Order: sequence, then C-alpha cells, then structure tokens
Amino acid sequence: MCSNVQRFITRCTVKQNCIAIAEMPNQQLLLLFLLPLLLLLLHPGNAQNPNPKLCSPDDQLSLLKFKSGVSDNTTTKALSTWRPARDCCFHWKGVRCNLTTGAVTSLKLHCSQGLKLQGALSPALGFLPSLRVLELVGCKHINGTIPRNLQRLTQLQQLVLDDNNLEGELPSLLHRLSSLKNLSLSNNRLAGEIPRSLGTLLTLQSLDLSHNNFSGFIPKSIANLPALQNLDLSFNAFTGHLPVSFKKGLPALNSIDLSYNNLTLRTIPSWILHRKNLSDVNLAGLNLTGNLPEFPPNSTLRSLNVSNNEIRGEIPRNISNLQELETLDLSKNKIASRIPSTLRLVEGLQVLDVSYNRLVGPIPRRLEMLKSLARVNFRNNRLCGRIPHGEFFSKRSARVYANNLCLCGLPLKPCSNIIP
Ligand SMILES: *[C@@H]1O[C@H](CO)[C@@H](O)[C@H](O)[C@H]1NC(C)=O
Ligand SMILES: *[C@@H]1O[C@H](CO)[C@@H](O)[C@H](O)[C@H]1NC(C)=O
Ligand SMILES: *[C@@H]1O[C@H](CO)[C@@H](O)[C@H](O)[C@H]1NC(C)=O
Ligand SMILES: *[C@@H]1O[C@H](CO)[C@@H](O)[C@H](O)[C@H]1NC(C)=O
Ligand SMILES: *[C@@H]1O[C@H](CO)[C@@H](O)[C@H](O)[C@H]1NC(C)=O
Ligand SMILES: *[C@@H]1O[C@H](CO)[C@@H](O)[C@H](O)[C@H]1NC(C)=O
Ligand SMILES: *[C@@H]1O[C@H](CO)[C@@H](O)[C@H](O)[C@H]1NC(C)=O
Ligand SMILES: *[C@@H]1O[C@H](CO)[C@@H](O)[C@H](O)[C@H]1NC(C)=O
Ligand SMILES: *[C@@H]1O[C@H](CO)[C@@H](O)[C@H](O)[C@H]1NC(C)=O
Ligand SMILES: *[C@@H]1O[C@H](CO)[C@@H](O)[C@H](O)[C@H]1NC(C)=O
Ligand SMILES: *[C@@H]1O[C@H](CO)[C@@H](O)[C@H](O)[C@H]1NC(C)=O
Repeated sequence: MCSNVQRFITRCTVKQNCIAIAEMPNQQLLLLFLLPLLLLLLHPGNAQNPNPKLCSPDDQLSLLKFKSGVSDNTTTKALSTWRPARDCCFHWKGVRCNLTTGAVTSLKLHCSQGLKLQGALSPALGFLPSLRVLELVGCKHINGTIPRNLQRLTQLQQLVLDDNNLEGELPSLLHRLSSLKNLSLSNNRLAGEIPRSLGTLLTLQSLDLSHNNFSGFIPKSIANLPALQNLDLSFNAFTGHLPVSFKKGLPALNSIDLSYNNLTLRTIPSWILHRKNLSDVNLAGLNLTGNLPEFPPNSTLRSLNVSNNEIRGEIPRNISNLQELETLDLSKNKIASRIPSTLRLVEGLQVLDVSYNRLVGPIPRRLEMLKSLARVNFRNNRLCGRIPHGEFFSKRSARVYANNLCLCGLPLKPCSNIIP
C-alpha cells in the first residue's frame, strides 16, 4: 500500500508518515502534494536552493572565531558582512575561496577609515588549511603575539602583517610554512632573535622585518635562501657583523636594507658593490667609516644610500660606472672632495643628496645635462661658485643650497664679479 503512494509522494521516507498519508482521502492527498509546490512558487528565493553554500563550514567556523577576537569599531562595521547566513566565498569582505572546493584561500584586511579592528589574532587562523594569502595591514589596535598556530598553514605564500601593533617573538616554527614567498612584518613591536630555521624557507623571495625591535646576530643561515630577492632588516637592534656567508650566498638578491641597526660593518662591504643583479642598497645609519669604494664597471646598482655614517675621503670620479643609478644618498658623512663632473654621465640620476658633508668647489655646471633629476640637496657643505643656470637648478628652493661657503646665483643672491 505504502509503495503505491510513494509513486506520487517522493518525500515520503518515514514509514509512519507514509501510512498516515496513504490513509487520507484522495483530494486531501492531492492538496498535501500541491501545497509545497504552491509555497515554492510564492517564495522562490527560499526554497529553490540550487546553490548550496560554497564556503567550507570548517573554514567559516575558523573565520568566525577570528572575528570574535577582534572588534570592528567603525560605523560601517565592515566585518558585519561576515555572517553565517551569507556565503563567505562571495559576501564576506576580504575573503576569497577556491571556487571548486569552497576552501578559504585568501584573507586580506586593510584597516582604514572604514575598518578599525581592535583585539588579537585568533589561533583559529591556523585552521584555514588552504590559505595562501594572509594580509592584515595597518591595524594599530591589533596587539598581542603572532599565533604559533600559523605554522600549520603549509600552503601559505604571503604572510603580510605590516603596520599593526604586534609584539613578542617570531614563532620558531615559522619555517614549516614551506610555500612561503613573502614574509612581511614591518612596523610592529616584534622583538627577540630571528630563528636560524628561517634559512630553510627555500621559496622565500621577500623578507621584511623592518621597524621592529629585533636583536641579536643576523643568522648566517639567511644566506642559504636561494630565492631571496628582497631583504629588509632596517630599523631594528641587530648587532654583530654581517655573516661572511652573505658574500657567496643569496644568489637572487636584488635589494638589501640594513639601515639603522647596531651592526659593526665598519666599512661598506665590497661584495655589495660587485654583486651582479643587486639593485638597491641601503646602509644608512650604520656607523660606517673609511672611504667610498671604487665603483666597478657594469654595475647594476639603481639606488645607493649610505646616509648618516662616518664616511670620509672623496666621491670617486668613477662613480660614473654606476650607469643604472637613480638614487644616490651620501648625506650626513664627512666626505671632503669636489663633486666630480663625471656625475653628469649617470644619465638616469633622479635623486642626489650630498647634504651635510665637507664638499668643496662648485656644483659642476655640466650637471645641467642630467635631465631626469627630480630632487637634489647640497645643503651644509663648503661649496662655492655659481649654481648651474639650468631651469632645474635655479628653480629649487634656496634651502637645498643653504649653509655653504659661497654658492651664488638663482635661487640665491647674484654672484659678484669674482665668481665666474
Ligand atoms: C572603540 O569604541 C569605544 C567606545 O565607543 C571607544 O572607547 C574606543 O576608544 C574605540 N576604539 C577605537 C580604536 O577607535
Ligand atoms: C582548487 O582546489 C582544487 C582541489 O584541491 C585544485 O585542484 C585547484 O587547483 C584549486 N584551484 C585554484 C584556483 O587554486
Ligand atoms: C591590547 O590592547 C588592549 C586595548 O588597547 C589592552 O587592553 C590589552 O591589554 C592589550 N593587550 C596586550 C597583550 O598588550
Ligand atoms: C610582499 O607583500 C607586500 C605587501 O603586500 C608587497 O608590497 C610586496 O610587493 C610583496 N613582495 C613580493 C616579493 O611579493
Ligand atoms: C627593545 O628590546 C630591548 C631588549 O632587547 C628592550 O630593552 C627595549 O625596551 C625594547 N624597545 C622597545 C621600544 O620595545
Ligand atoms: C639576474 O637577473 C636576470 C634578469 O633579471 C636573471 O635572468 C638572472 O638569472 C639573475 N641572475 C642571478 C644570479 O640571479
Ligand atoms: C650597540 O652596540 C654597542 C657596542 O656593541 C653597545 O655598547 C650598545 O649598547 C648597543 N646599543 C644598542 C641599542 O643595542
Ligand atoms: C661608531 O664607531 C666608533 C668608532 O669605530 C665607535 O667608537 C662608536 O662607539 C660607534 N658608535 C656606535 C653607535 O656603534
Ligand atoms: C662590461 O660590459 C661590456 C659590454 O657589455 C663588456 O664588454 C665588459 O667585459 C664588461 N666588463 C666587466 C668588468 O664585466
Ligand atoms: C636613505 O635611508 C634612510 C633610512 O632608511 C631614509 O630615511 C632616507 O629617506 C633614504 N634616502 C633616500 C634618498 O631615499
Ligand atoms: C675608481 O676611482 C678611484 C679613485 O678615483 C681609483 O683609485 C680607482 O682605481 C678607480 N677604479 C676603477 C675600477 O676605475
């Protein structure tokens, strides 16, 4: 009997219901059958449900745990889009999924006027197993430590936690993030030493630990990173020498910034200037002494910054070997030579800062040939002579020529007859 009815009513599963339905008169049975259909027509949105939620339930739960650890203090309440009723893959601000599996692959939140997060990073972030990108930037009210649990994120390629208020040490097991390409933790209050094991991250391309309070030696294992292009350790409290392993290691190195640490480099390491493919070097504020090195031919340097050191001697004429140079910052040293007119041969030069040195002689007139110049500073030297006529030089603010011996001509006072 029951099986007869089942031909019409497919929803009939529980035996008792089935019997009850079967005993009804035919008209009532028909009504019962049509009723859901009718409701379906009246409320298509609720019932049709052809798209069940894509978002992985486990990942959704982890995200909600993260959300409960931070409060969003803005009127817009950007995290209010994070509601279980909505699909996290499509409707949660900052969240992206793998569209096949519904696993969360990317979480990007940038604090701004519209989003002010406050609180701590939940260990639940470690339970997003498909996460490739974790970016939480600019949240000065996010404090606490980097959860150790992040070591579980073996798919992670980008861990970017810049400009927050994080403290504590780097989790020692970060090296388990074996897919990591970009580790950027700049401008927090992180401290302690860099774990040696960081040197085992074979895929790491960019390491930025700048503007924190890291200390201790720079581990020599860092030199083992075969893919590292960008190393920024500036504005920390690192001590000791630069490991000698750096000279032979780091084959992919493109940019290095060690500025403002308590390192004892003594002089500019000569390998830094002979290294192929190195383009940006910043050694400002490292108490370097000695002279500027010889600049080798075919240099790939695009930016050289040795500001705020104790460098003496001269600016070598063969600075013109730096044919790719765009930025040269020699400010706040004790360089006591003329400005070589060969500098005019560095055709792409855009920024030239030689302020606060002991330079003598004129600003070479032929620097007018540098058509890319955008910024210069000659302040506080012992320069003397006519400022080059060219529009670029004469239209600078007088401040960039101030406190010299006897510079003259626009924008300063006219030169007297004695000065050519
Ligand atoms: C968040 O709101 C509370 C109360 O309105 C306020 O006291 C607190 O300073 C706010 N925090 C931020 C980070 O704006
Ligand atoms: C989504 O996940 C599947 C299964 O893990 C994987 O094969 C695919 O490459 C992923 N898609 C993307 C865009 O990552
Ligand atoms: C984080 O900030 C909150 C509010 O500013 C403060 O109450 C809490 O003690 C801080 N936590 C840590 C670990 O510094
Ligand atoms: C690393 O992430 C930062 C912040 O998003 C970005 O500016 C930088 O270009 C990234 N570097 C690499 C090598 O992907
Ligand atoms: C930086 O770390 C040192 C210890 O290594 C500590 O004495 C100092 O207070 C820290 N500075 C800041 C700004 O946290
Ligand atoms: C130097 O850079 C070029 C092009 O960017 C690249 O092809 C080459 O492999 C690099 N050399 C090294 C030693 O990394
Ligand atoms: C910097 O190093 C010198 C000598 O190595 C030491 O006396 C000084 O305390 C260090 N300063 C900091 C801030 O670590
Ligand atoms: C800078 O170097 C000089 C001489 O080498 C040394 O006396 C001085 O302590 C150093 N200063 C710092 C801050 O390391
Ligand atoms: C510099 O490059 C030129 C041409 O590209 C080449 O002939 C010369 O050998 C190179 N010099 C050095 C020292 O690499
Ligand atoms: C040189 O480096 C210092 C410290 O990192 C920085 O403040 C300065 O702006 C740099 N100079 C140029 C011209 O970028
Ligand atoms: C570079 O110039 C310096 C001083 O002007 C000189 O001693 C040195 O031999 C020159 N080096 C090269 C490679 O031209």
